[in-house]
Amino acid sequence: MIITTLMIPICLYIIYLLFIITSSSPSSYSIYHSLFTSTSLITNSNSTISHHLYTLTRRPHVAGTQANADAASYVFSTFTSYSLPSRITSYHVSLTYPISRSLTLTHPQSDPPTSITFDLNQKIYSGDPYANEVLPTFHAYAKSGTAVGKVVYVNYGRVEDYDTLKQMGVNVSGTVVLVRYGEIFRGDIVRNAHLAGAVGVVVYTDKKDYGGCGSKNKGYPDDRWMPSSGVQVGTLYSGAGDPTTPGWASISSSNADCERLSDDEVEQSGDVPLIPSLPISWADGDFILRSIGGQVANADWQGCPDSSVYRVGPGPGFLNLTYTGSQVINAIQNVIAVIEGAIEPDRFVILGNHRDAWTFGAVDPNSGTAALLEVARRFGKLKRKGWRPRRTIILCNWDAEEYGLIGSTEWVEENREMLASRAVAYLNVDCGVSGPGFHASATPQLDELLKQATQQVRDPDNISQTIYESWITSSESPLIGRLGGGGSDYAPFVQHIGIPSVDILFGGGYPVYHSMYDDFVWMKKFGDPMFHRHVAAASIWGLVALQLADKEFLPFNYLSYANELQES
Ligand SMILES: *[C@@H]1O[C@H](CO)[C@@H](O)[C@H](O)[C@H]1NC(C)=O
Ligand SMILES: *[C@@H]1O[C@H](CO)[C@@H](O)[C@H](O)[C@H]1NC(C)=O
Ligand SMILES: *[C@@H]1O[C@H](CO)[C@@H](O)[C@H](O)[C@H]1NC(C)=O
Ligand SMILES: *[C@@H]1O[C@H](CO)[C@@H](O)[C@H](O)[C@H]1NC(C)=O
Repeated sequence: MIITTLMIPICLYIIYLLFIITSSSPSSYSIYHSLFTSTSLITNSNSTISHHLYTLTRRPHVAGTQANADAASYVFSTFTSYSLPSRITSYHVSLTYPISRSLTLTHPQSDPPTSITFDLNQKIYSGDPYANEVLPTFHAYAKSGTAVGKVVYVNYGRVEDYDTLKQMGVNVSGTVVLVRYGEIFRGDIVRNAHLAGAVGVVVYTDKKDYGGCGSKNKGYPDDRWMPSSGVQVGTLYSGAGDPTTPGWASISSSNADCERLSDDEVEQSGDVPLIPSLPISWADGDFILRSIGGQVANADWQGCPDSSVYRVGPGPGFLNLTYTGSQVINAIQNVIAVIEGAIEPDRFVILGNHRDAWTFGAVDPNSGTAALLEVARRFGKLKRKGWRPRRTIILCNWDAEEYGLIGSTEWVEENREMLASRAVAYLNVDCGVSGPGFHASATPQLDELLKQATQQVRDPDNISQTIYESWITSSESPLIGRLGGGGSDYAPFVQHIGIPSVDILFGGGYPVYHSMYDDFVWMKKFGDPMFHRHVAAASIWGLVALQLADKEFLPFNYLSYANELQES
């Protein structure tokens, strides 16, 4: 055949027509996205979401326990009931649980010397049938042992706080330090204390940071604030994934365990603490503060206006702290559902949220789990209408995030090559809802997509405008954070394999964080009484996923990446 110059434009025109036809095929997202944007959704879905949250948070479900395996079965059977092919994948990982704790304060200068041993219990409010299943308060991977010494108050336990003490002439060496939560990762609190020469650490929740100053604030269940007996638990591990298998997956078969680091090798990694520590309540922290003499601490080290005057010590109060933990290899469960892509099945859009909680986990993380199940429900509905995404969508419900992003990291380690070449994006929701106000963090090429999605969903707290409109009125332009650090399960995707990622939430910091008061009743009373914010979180999450899965050209915008790089 002779190709004339006229044929070239004709061929191009035919290719153009084909393009138009394929890009408006029935799988195109525009036909289906109303399932994620219609306002009637809010009242249609809130009872389903609320029911999922209630079921997931009935009992405490720490990673590696039967209760959390049961929660995995619930997620699995829910995915399956929405016609999504699903499976549970297990890993055997190193976890720790408390065996015994004690904390005694001695006032050697009172006559006679007095001693008090704290009971370290959080107050159970009536009507909480499973509160007795909550683990004793502890720090995961804390060093077992005893520490005795005069107590020194070190504010938030930052490096600059130790510098301040040094300038004041206070010698921390050989003391037990009292530190308040709030500015840095708790693992760094213990690390900094060890580097400064302290022999033990007690970390308390200051009313100023979590309790709501003023005598009219009684604390949950009367209001949203942390009650005075409330304790924030959490991990001290600063790595990601099973500490005994750094860089490889914790896979064991019935007759052989995988290779693991010894306890000594884990200690040498520098990611676990080397001195004992305990988290305690505001009530106990306040009591210890009153036993500390010496110089008055700086103004920014003080507490609420109605608190006692904080002094730095050392002593005369003298603490004796003992902690014994057990280190075990337990099974954890990730639950994975897959919706296979019709055109590019080997391209993955991955949605992830963890399931394990320190206690009941209504905010952290099961508000996100309830939203994940709602996204699954809507995808199931689309599938029944004949939709197949262009690319494969994978819904992941991780385990053992609280101990150190373990479930997600092991999965990434097991599937590293495949994920690095095939994953298009990772969309994370951890604490999905703790109050009003939308917040997002992302790698910059996803900024525009996030903005577009929020323009299509009504603000659950002001139905007369979109989430985008509310988002920009609270700041000049929508403030999109970046995904630095190891805050949640996006870290293995962003930091190990460089996948574009997003993390979204409604609310932000909340006072009962990592305590036994983060339960369904708190959510119903204070976090999201109508569950409308949960519905909106599911809508945005699902919309972003739908666009990444269905648009012919990946909706990445590198302009903000370029801007970001120029500014840095
Ligand atoms: C701090 O105290 C320790 C132990 O009591 C002592 O060995 C050290 O010399 C002291 N350091 C300073 C700077 O006084
Ligand atoms: C500290 O407490 C432990 C456990 O209660 C006890 O065995 C030990 O004797 C105490 N040490 C001091 C110096 O009081
Ligand atoms: C709700 O949105 C409307 C329309 O944008 C706005 O005029 C109003 O101030 C908003 N209300 C609140 C309480 O923010
Ligand atoms: C769902 O929202 C409606 C109002 O839109 C409210 O009346 C109802 O109580 C909510 N359901 C739940 C379970 O919160």
